[in-house]
Amino acid sequence: MIFEILTIFPGMFSPLEESIVGKACGRGLIQVRVHNIRDFATDRHQTTDDRPFGGGEGMVMKPEPIVSALRAMNESGPPARIILLTPQGRLFEQETALELSCLERIVLICGRYEGVDERVAEYFTDDQISIGDYILTGGELAAMVVVDAVTRLIPGVLGNESSSLADSFSQKILEHPQYTRPQDFEGMCVPAVLLGGNHEIIRRWRRRQALLRTRMRRPDLFAGLSLSAEDYVLLEEGKIEDKGQKA
Ligand code: ADE
Repeated sequence: MIFEILTIFPGMFSPLEESIVGKACGRGLIQVRVHNIRDFATDRHQTTDDRPFGGGEGMVMKPEPIVSALRAMNESGPPARIILLTPQGRLFEQETALELSCLERIVLICGRYEGVDERVAEYFTDDQISIGDYILTGGELAAMVVVDAVTRLIPGVLGNESSSLADSFSQKILEHPQYTRPQDFEGMCVPAVLLGGNHEIIRRWRRRQALLRTRMRRPDLFAGLSLSAEDYVLLEEGKIEDKGQKA
């Protein structure tokens, strides 16, 4: 997978050199190529933004440097999905990450200021993505979120292939709580069920915790779950257990 990133702040992307994404680069499983949009501006001052037609606050990113960069990209390498990061895009979810992980090459355009000239969005992109309903100072952090979430789905990137599939949201349910040593941390003890070594009892406990947690914290996700017969039993058992604990 090749990620081509178009930005006026290439220095912001050093976090991608760390950790799992950095290792995936090192192992040749992905490539992250960061391009400075300013290098494609042809005027003396290498201008990348200008005032909005019609007046108003802020500056708008000019179309010419971005489109020149896209054309240069087009001439090098396999076909790419051109994505603009913008709060006006479709919401980026786990399914979006999965969809993108099947592509060979993605171009991520990071907007700044009041956004990019609408003609870029309309005529030169295939997709527009928002990472959430809040406004960042630019698309750079959003692009890194996309690179991170997509990279971990690429075969070979995570040690254990099943771990990305078992995650929260792959199943649209929150994950059960996890504990590690020490067994007793300042008087807070690991639930006894996890110490017993009975895999079936542990599986059922984890599933119940995941269901209860999702119902409590993310009722929107819970409403969309199709519960199995076992899930109903586990939730009922949860009620009995809660009453037992309160008593
Ligand atoms: N640029 C600014 N805010 C953004 C967001 N929420 N998602 C994607 N790109 C953005």
